[in-house]
Amino acid sequence: MKKTGISKPQEIEQLIKKNRSLVEIGKALSAEKNLDAVLEMVVDKAREFTNADAGSIYILTPDEKTLQFKIIHTDSLNWRMGGTSGNPITLPDIPIIREDGHPNLMNVCSYVAYTGKAVNIPDVYFAENFNFANTKIIDAANNYRSKSMLVLPMRNHENDIIGVLSLINAMEKGKIVPFSKDVEEITEALASQAAIALTNSILIHDLEELLESFIRSIAHGMGIKSPHTGNHIRRVEELTMQIARTINSENSGKFSNTYFNEDEMKELRIAAWMHDIGKITTPEFIFNKATKLQTIFDRIKLLETRFNLIKEIKKNEHSGQKYDLIKRGKKEEVPALEKNFEKQINELEDEINFLNEVNIGKEYLAEEKIDRIKSISRKKYILDGQEFPYLEKNEVENLIINKGTLTQKEKQMMDNHANVSYEMLHELPFPKKMNKIPIYASGHHEKLDGSGYPLGLKAEQLPLQTRILAIADIFDALTAHDRPYKEGKTLSESMSILEKMVLSNFLDKDIFEIFRTNKLYLLFAEKELKKEQIDME
Ligand SMILES: [Fe+2]
Ligand SMILES: [Fe+2]
Repeated sequence: MKKTGISKPQEIEQLIKKNRSLVEIGKALSAEKNLDAVLEMVVDKAREFTNADAGSIYILTPDEKTLQFKIIHTDSLNWRMGGTSGNPITLPDIPIIREDGHPNLMNVCSYVAYTGKAVNIPDVYFAENFNFANTKIIDAANNYRSKSMLVLPMRNHENDIIGVLSLINAMEKGKIVPFSKDVEEITEALASQAAIALTNSILIHDLEELLESFIRSIAHGMGIKSPHTGNHIRRVEELTMQIARTINSENSGKFSNTYFNEDEMKELRIAAWMHDIGKITTPEFIFNKATKLQTIFDRIKLLETRFNLIKEIKKNEHSGQKYDLIKRGKKEEVPALEKNFEKQINELEDEINFLNEVNIGKEYLAEEKIDRIKSISRKKYILDGQEFPYLEKNEVENLIINKGTLTQKEKQMMDNHANVSYEMLHELPFPKKMNKIPIYASGHHEKLDGSGYPLGLKAEQLPLQTRILAIADIFDALTAHDRPYKEGKTLSESMSILEKMVLSNFLDKDIFEIFRTNKLYLLFAEKELKKEQIDME
């Protein structure tokens, strides 16, 4: 160990102190997950360790060809740039490999990054192996004198160099002194601890990014399968986050003490992206069933063809009957026959027009219309000596759907998406700070009075986040104008339905109030709805 002029017991005491703080720094570093804050802490602590006036961190780009400036601190110039300071770094990145393909060994930082060797220079203005021309220019511009310099590689747990820590001007009693050898060793240990913390932080960050991107890509896949479902997911996410942000900004009232922090906002956002994940298993024809008779095509076309066939059969029958009357000399009966035939054809045309009308899913189908469909279905026609009904059993079943375009069975299959969402999400081992996603996402069809699905949860089992999602989901479902089976409702209709659902104790009244009084509906409408839907302010 190099003599520093300090007596031995003092020297040992100082080293023990430094070792202790190294352990403390290690703990602090591994607890910090914010990348910028980790880097900042490294520079602060390294400067504290070495009593250096200035310190910088450079991180290797993923292609390992460039060093990027991340943090610059210089006490005497009052400089804090990069990291969480909010002051951008304007200095250019340093190439490790020159344009001619050779390593950039004249720059001390790229030398350290390339060779992995620490460099300790007493006075950079007299250094022989490196080019400090730029340093001199920057010094001159800021009335500064860079003198002693310690540049260390930052190696992670796999011994890979991930960055470079540079310290300038070790201070002792107000004077610049060289960095001592013992300080060099211990600071190198600190730099490596930092590199490990940094690598962990990057890994966690990358995993979170991966998770979020993966979820977005599932939602994107859903959008390809069913564009209106993809759009619904996007809008529900936007609306959910808008409501959450508004709650965060409330200073009075019910939500004055409610604040979703960054992690909770992220958790809620992912829950919104995943809320209809179960629809991945819903058959496409149910998603996109635009009319009651639609399967892979709209079977109303089949009915039109059938009714045309019946018409032709009736025409043939009529011609035969007419010919028979004339042949039997009963010409006077022909006008009555013609009249009856005309009536039958009109009736047929009327019926197919009526079937076309009831094939469109509406809010409600009147009892007399259901009776008429059933009475048409009881009619028969004969083809090749065989009797057939005007309407098949399944066609009747679909045409008498009271609301929308889905049969009871199809509706159950559609509603089952909430069950599937629940099962799929509960299978996933979410990290601790995101482990509420399954509860938030799969509960958007639950109602406060316990009458919802899939689990029939009651108010006390439904967290605020689930309640926000439920309102966002229903509001979008009501106003959506891109669904093949229905028109988008107007803003006033949708708000009054939401209000009724609040009064029926289905939806949360306080969230609805936030939504109403802050006019979040209008903000949403101006972006997403058709002009003619916006009928209130
Ligand atoms: Fe849903
Ligand atoms: Fe939904």
